[in-house]
Amino acid sequence: MGIAATMISDWRRFPISETLVDARVQEESILTTWSDGRLSPFHFLWLRDNCPCDRCVHRLTREQVFEIVDAPADLAAVSAQPDEAGGLRIRWSDGHESRFDAGWLRANAYDNVSRAERRSRPPKRFWRAEQTEALPVFSFAALAADDGALLDWLRALRDVGLTLVKDVPLESEAVTRLARRISFVRETSFGVVFDVASKPNPDSNAYTSINLPPHTDLPTREVQPGLQFLHCLANEASGGDSIFVDGFAIAATLRGRFPEDFEILATTPVAFWNKDTVTDYRHSAPIIATDASGDVTEIRYSNSVRGPFDAPADLMPGLYRAYRRFMQLGREAQFRIVRRLEPGDMWGFDNRRVLHARTEFDPNSGKRHLQGCYVDRDELLSRIRVLERDA
Ligand code: OGA
Ligand code: ZN
Ligand code: ZN
Repeated sequence: MGIAATMISDWRRFPISETLVDARVQEESILTTWSDGRLSPFHFLWLRDNCPCDRCVHRLTREQVFEIVDAPADLAAVSAQPDEAGGLRIRWSDGHESRFDAGWLRANAYDNVSRAERRSRPPKRFWRAEQTEALPVFSFAALAADDGALLDWLRALRDVGLTLVKDVPLESEAVTRLARRISFVRETSFGVVFDVASKPNPDSNAYTSINLPPHTDLPTREVQPGLQFLHCLANEASGGDSIFVDGFAIAATLRGRFPEDFEILATTPVAFWNKDTVTDYRHSAPIIATDASGDVTEIRYSNSVRGPFDAPADLMPGLYRAYRRFMQLGREAQFRIVRRLEPGDMWGFDNRRVLHARTEFDPNSGKRHLQGCYVDRDELLSRIRVLERDA
């Protein structure tokens, strides 16, 4: 089999760092030994399920067509050995043959060491006010023209969660030109692009001139928009400064200082709602979302669109204690990055992690006009992976 066969099940490349030096057929698995001494067991069913041959994987779509239930339950390897390229060649009891590339096999090995290695991606960098100077800053022209600069920006959005882009053209909808460099813009009931300005009949506190306390946008949706962009077209009014709080940093602080309160916010669903004459969006979920390992993956929080708490009566005092503490942390100066947007500046941030806020402004003192749009997290991560294929 040539290179096409070894690449067939994925578009990524799997550089060969180690090769197989031994393969032993055991009762229900093959125990392999790598050139660096690592031992990786691979179960018969796992290997058969991942056979990359063009009978098992569609040659063009690279999606699997084989279904593992079509292999006999007692499927076994008749023989298994490393081949000349350090990959693995297998003959199966039902007559099928498989060949695995060493790079792919190593990247997908599930022995404890390999799995731990995959999980040890550098942890997200949490930030506080003192990191203001280290805020990642990018230029519109570079992001528009250069995929390398784009990749740096997207990684910063993923890992830091807050970025500033300078010299964005002072043109209506310029915000979507950068968003579309990533992928699809997420349209919402507020439009493809939303105009943040003081309006005569506002359908959101954002469209008044009042202080907006720290919040994520659209916690009212089952999936909050992953990225938010806010482009400043005019900021002549007095007030209206931007404030950002790393929601993961305050969640970590809450967890350290008041673990019970963290637990309450991570397990109690809270309702958020956007309701007006023509739409009615509601969603309930805990303010702090965690994954199967207990790591915080998302913050969902906007006091202005929160519904009444609905929790068992005996838990209500604890819920208020926890909620007030979370709110209080968001007011602490040590967590707040405060910056004033200049025309041509654009914030880009992780709306499922970072809380944003603005101070009150005086609409009679001058014009203030921002334009914003959203892009989902899936689009960000997909774009990063594709750019990394060529990097
Ligand atoms: C918003 C918002 C911030 C600002 O529109 O949701 O938070 O600076 N705006 O006006
Ligand atoms: Zn096959
Ligand atoms: Zn907002």
